[in-house]
Parts: sequence; structure tokens; C-alpha cells
Amino acid sequence: MLIKNDAAGVQAWSLACRAAGLRIGFVPTMGALHGGHAALLRAARAECDRVIASVFVNPLQFGPGEDFAAYPRPFERDKALCAEAGVDLLYHGNPEDFYPPGFRTEVRVRELGETLCGRARPGHFEGVCTVVAKLLLRTFPHRAYFGQKDYQQAAIIRRMAADLDIPAAIAVLPTVREPDGLAMSSRNAYLGPAERAAAPCIFRGLSAALARFAAGERGAGALVGTCRSVIAAEPAAAIEYVAAADAESLREYAVEERIGGRAVLAAAVRFGPARLIDNVLLEP
Ligand code: PAJ
Repeated sequence: MLIKNDAAGVQAWSLACRAAGLRIGFVPTMGALHGGHAALLRAARAECDRVIASVFVNPLQFGPGEDFAAYPRPFERDKALCAEAGVDLLYHGNPEDFYPPGFRTEVRVRELGETLCGRARPGHFEGVCTVVAKLLLRTFPHRAYFGQKDYQQAAIIRRMAADLDIPAAIAVLPTVREPDGLAMSSRNAYLGPAERAAAPCIFRGLSAALARFAAGERGAGALVGTCRSVIAAEPAAAIEYVAAADAESLREYAVEERIGGRAVLAAAVRFGPARLIDNVLLEP
């Protein structure tokens, strides 16, 4: 496995692969790799000739007071996991390489970035889009892999790639969960034992609402309310939001509305220092 930390080196390597007719799969991450990341790497390995993974904790997508400094950076472990997953090139970037003095550009996807997580984290999706645009223009993948766990992020990146004519297919893979339903996340490491025991309530709440949807319930208020009440029963859980939104436009449904087409039910919940998110698709 090659390891590079400079844009020029990564770009030259990717362009050489392309020139040789090889299909490139790319998995961008912030490291602290877990089973969710591993599933993306496995898919890329199975579907492509060359696999690039990136590990970069992107300062641009963290707001003031968020966990940029605390974010786990176990690089030796990540390196071993990538090597084991068959990664060909590990791109370990650094802030100077991504944002040299004079850097001024920001990529913003209007509307999609303003609902759900965008409300509580102003500037977050601009930070994500800016770094992912740069990563895609450094790695030139045929296919880039993202997780449904970050549903809004994947929807925004898909829109951005289409709008900017970035010639990479955006693949979105199902959420990988712990046996008790908790979505795997690098931020689960922040949970103390009591918080860890409480955290599966997010997926229990989403699943309870999904069961009502499957039984025919279409009221947005009823579905959101079902999910909220399951999560709120855990004293350690502080709900930031639970919302139903259109699966494409991410417009949030008002409580009195009925769900018309494909929708996503999404939640953000704090357990002590950890802000965790999860979602399920509501498909008629
Ligand atoms: P990170 O949180 O490291 O996630 C990297 C990728 O792994 C994302 O596409 C995310 O959706 C996916 N992922 C995380 N947990 C998952 C799970 N339990 N099941 C399936 N996939 C999962 O998301 C980011 O980093 C950053 O915002 C990034 C896109 C790298 C830009 O900085």
C-alpha cells in the first residue's frame, strides 16, 4: 500500500491509473475507521481496479465549539485497516496541503444543505462539499463511495457532482450497525458506558416509526412523534431534531402534512459530548 500526503503526488498517481485504463474507486474518510468504512472499502475493492482511501480530519466542516480537536486520529490503526482491506493508495492529507495561504473558495449546494443537520451546523456542508470537491479532483475516481448513515451528506454530494460535471459515480451504501442497532460512528468513542447503553434508542425510535409507516401511517407528525417518544424515554438522550424530509429535495415535512413520496426519517441526538445521527428511508 502506497501512502501519500501531497495533492500533486496523488493526482499524478490517479492520472497514471486512468491513462492505463484502470477503474479507480475512492473512499473519503476522516479516519478512526470502523465497520462502516470497511464496508465502503470492500465494495470499492470488489468493483474497481485501484482503490484510494483518504484520511483527513477536515477543519472546514467543524464549527466553533465542535469536536475538531477531540476527533480521534488513530492513524497507525487506520493504516493497518486500509492495508488489510486491499487499499492501493492511502491519501493522508493535512490542512496545509488542502488549504494553503490564500485559499478562498467555498462550494455550497443551496437548499439541500439548509435543512436537517444544516440548521444546527451552519457552514458544515459547505466545508464537506469544498473538501470532497477537492478530493474528487485529486483522485479522479470512476466511483466514489459514501454511507447512508450520513444521508444528507450523500444527497448533497450527489447534487454537487452532477452540478459541477464531476465525472464520478456516487455510490451510497447501507448503514452498518452494531448488534444492538447503534449506527457505527467514529464519534461512538466519545460515549461513556451509560451513554453507550442508551444510544441504541435512536435506531429503536426510527424503527418504531418505520413499523408504523409500513402499517400504513402517513402522518408526518405521528411518525416523528413515535420516534421522538422512544428516544425521549432515555434520560441520557438530548434530542436535537427528529424530522421527516423528502428523500430528494430534503424539504422537511410539517407535522400536519402527509408523506407523499420517498422520504427519509432522520434524527440527531446528543449523549453527553457525542452528537450522533441516524436515519431510515420511508419508501411507499
Ligand atoms: P466519516 O465520518 O469518516 O465517514 C466517511 C464515510 O463513511 C462517509 O461516507 C460516511 O457516510 C460513511 N459511514 C460512516 N459511518 C457509517 C456506517 N455506520 N455505515 C456505513 N457508512 C458509514 O463523512 C465524513 O467522514 C466526512 O464528512 C467526509 C465525507 C470524509 C468529508 O470530510
